[in-house]
Amino acid sequence: MARGIIGLDIGSHSIKLVELKEAKGGSWKLVKFGLHKLPAEAIVDGAIMNSAAVVEGIRDLIARHKIKTREVATCVSGHSVIIKKITLPTMSEDELNESIQWEAEQYIPFSINDVNLDTQILSQGEEASNMDVLLVAAKKDIIHEYTAAIAEAGLKPLIVDVACFSIENCFDLNEDPAPGEISALVNVGASLVNINILNNGVTAFTRDINMGGNQFTEEIQKQLNISYEEAEALKLGGNISSSQSTTEAVVPQEVGAILRSTSETLAVEIQRSIDFYLATSPGLSLGRLVLSGGTAKIAGLKDALESSLNTKVELADPFKNISYSPKDFDPDYLKDLAPMSAVAVGLASRRLGDKPA
Ligand SMILES: Nc1ncnc2c1ncn2[C@@H]1O[C@H](COP(=O)(O)OP(=O)(O)OP(=O)(O)O)[C@@H](O)[C@H]1O
Ligand SMILES: [Mg+2]
Repeated sequence: MARGIIGLDIGSHSIKLVELKEAKGGSWKLVKFGLHKLPAEAIVDGAIMNSAAVVEGIRDLIARHKIKTREVATCVSGHSVIIKKITLPTMSEDELNESIQWEAEQYIPFSINDVNLDTQILSQGEEASNMDVLLVAAKKDIIHEYTAAIAEAGLKPLIVDVACFSIENCFDLNEDPAPGEISALVNVGASLVNINILNNGVTAFTRDINMGGNQFTEEIQKQLNISYEEAEALKLGGNISSSQSTTEAVVPQEVGAILRSTSETLAVEIQRSIDFYLATSPGLSLGRLVLSGGTAKIAGLKDALESSLNTKVELADPFKNISYSPKDFDPDYLKDLAPMSAVAVGLASRRLGDKPA
């Protein structure tokens, strides 16, 4: 059996850690789960600004959850990652690995020396002499920021994935899509939306949008003229614990309206990306949308997406096919944190030498 690995999703709001064990018959068992909240601005647009806070966060997770496994799969996202579907003459994987350094230059806006490249053969192209290849280029400096923080915390970064592929791995672990179906996987975090549209189980389109839960908080802060922390607490459904309490009856109502209008703005942006893909060839239509990320917990977002896309929107259930003992993990706690765990679960299912789905 392949060695275990820790899935470490270093998000701008929190670091999520998941360790899974492969049980008999291809099933999975939850070994470890942890979440460490990061201070504001520790990560901005996918770049680590406060590496000390990230290192401390990883160390805290290792100590608190008594982590023994050292090997880590992590991921990067945002504008330092370029994913493109390209068509090339049919060739073997070895030939592809050799020629991609030369081929890739024309497809990516960065110098080829500044990026790590990866490829995946998707399928034969429309003509037998061609094949479709997914080209992934990630800036070396951003990869280094993540791997250096992980190494400094005493762990071994073995796999660096891309967030939108991690949500796909999580989806594959938990769902059996209908043949031919087009599914949009949409992970809405604090500062980024990761989108991966699968056509018949294969990545057909990906995009990261610079939007997320922070926008809801900022909008509440601005409109109610309160601090960011107070706004965040109101967003999460709490109350401002202050003696000069803002008129209680008014606040929740106003917050509700802000959550609704921000959900609509976000839904429009997500729809724009999905429509862009659907317009690439005639006859494409969306079968389902699976929503994950902490911001999926804002009920208005699901509603807004459902009405703008006119498609069924489901909340991701990253632990659906993962067994655990209620003695080790509180089911309510896991249920509460399930939406933000999709990326870490996908990472934890990676094994060295595998190719992501
Ligand atoms: N109950 C809730 N209601 C509304 N929003 C919530 C709730 N719980 C968490 N969030 C929001 O979810 C976001 C965090 O989600 P997630 O953990 O997926 O983000 P992240 O991975 O850290 O960030 P990113 O990937 O965007 O850098 C925050 O904006 C947080 O305020
Ligand atoms: Mg995230």
